[in-house]
Amino acid sequence: MAHPLFATKSVDKLRADAEFAYGLKRTLTALDLVLLGIGAIIGTGIFVLTGRAAAANAGPAVALSFTVAGIASAFAGLCYSEMASMIPIAGSAYTYSYATMGELVAWIIGWDLILEYLVGAATVSVGWSGYVVAFVANVTGWKMPATWTSSPLVWSEAHRHVQFTGAIINLPAMLITLFVTAILVVGIKESARFNSVIVIIKVAVVLLFIAAAAPFIRTENWHPFIPNNTGTFGRYGISGILQGATMVFFAYIGFDAVSTAAQETRNPRRDLPIGILGSLAICTVLYITVSLILTGVVHYSRLSVPYPMALGIAATGVRWLEIAVEIGAIAGLSSVMVVMLMGQPRIFFSMAVDGLLPPIAAKVHPRFGTPHVTTITTGLACAVAGGLLPIDILGELTSIGTLFAFMLVSLGVMILRLRRPDIPRSFRVPGGPFVIPILGALFSGGLMYTATTHTLIRLFAWMAIGLVIYVVYGRKHSKLRRG
Ligand code: ALA
Repeated sequence: MAHPLFATKSVDKLRADAEFAYGLKRTLTALDLVLLGIGAIIGTGIFVLTGRAAAANAGPAVALSFTVAGIASAFAGLCYSEMASMIPIAGSAYTYSYATMGELVAWIIGWDLILEYLVGAATVSVGWSGYVVAFVANVTGWKMPATWTSSPLVWSEAHRHVQFTGAIINLPAMLITLFVTAILVVGIKESARFNSVIVIIKVAVVLLFIAAAAPFIRTENWHPFIPNNTGTFGRYGISGILQGATMVFFAYIGFDAVSTAAQETRNPRRDLPIGILGSLAICTVLYITVSLILTGVVHYSRLSVPYPMALGIAATGVRWLEIAVEIGAIAGLSSVMVVMLMGQPRIFFSMAVDGLLPPIAAKVHPRFGTPHVTTITTGLACAVAGGLLPIDILGELTSIGTLFAFMLVSLGVMILRLRRPDIPRSFRVPGGPFVIPILGALFSGGLMYTATTHTLIRLFAWMAIGLVIYVVYGRKHSKLRRG
């Protein structure tokens, strides 16, 4: 018999569990899921990081960076779809690894996903705050004081430690987090509706950007399309495209959040793959188009600004378009937060149902039917992180945490195909049990490899804290171990 640390949950039992919703309401349709996915995906990545990756790493070939990151995400998306269609239960990668690689790996992934969802939401809240400051200054001329709108801490690459900036707290980042949390406590259908409206605004603004800016492309901005490498790894050339891919990978994070709504979906086996792959495909097309147009309108060397899309649209000379893009960015970032702050509590919820977290975290609100305890806890922790920490530390942690989860989910698909070929899968990754999962793990692992040493150290430190909590609490209260 396997050591208890590697005991896996029975897939059959999970499938049976999936029929029950634990008091959660099954209201979401395939369209809701696609919108939920787009809501989670389009955000800081396209609105903020495209410009940086173009200016610092890839030049106009940032479109190729988006293609590479999109391929990595597509492999992972296929693996998530197979898993989600087989085990349509809240908890995402956490649940999948519990069924494939055992409790210890499941705990590690569950703990790691906090980086993707909670820290990811905090990253976006900081981006949101930046856009709001810019928008207010643009419309009213009033510049909100940096003391209250930025992080008191900054990472100094030169000194290799955190320094104080003199600011007190990022108040707008905290307020948006608390606002979204309040909406999520009230109910998922209401949240999905709120999300749909915002997603429509956000996609409309991206399309508006494409249509309005395209006539202003100056093809000389695309020459050379792949600027020569400067001699430093990651500064243009092929290595620049790859390092740019790691940066814009952040833009794709979020499609997997669709799988955390499994128990609130009407027909999860069919609708989850549609939600995951549909949203990913739409966003990939939009990203490549936007990045091509952006680098065609503004020379890449000028794109390292916090609001590159606003800069691009400014080339049209139409002021209301600039304001519209800012509003779209603010709306877009809000909806990313909705999905991330919705995913995280549902992972905590699953972990509590399994006994790995205290039972209070598995409480469902009697009237709203939402996991309110974990939603509120997540919101408070996210508000503190977004209020105090700088965007680069938060963003890099989010990306590396997500890549780690993608890698383990890809391996999980392969393991489960070999161990349990009998389980019906309404969606299978094409090409058999090895090709896509191995490519998925290699792509994610490869992008992790390009992360900075400090990010890797932070990842290990975070995991070490998680392991201590598992040893002190989870291991003793695990329902699986107690039979
Ligand atoms: N993909 C999300 C964004 O770009 C996380 O903000």
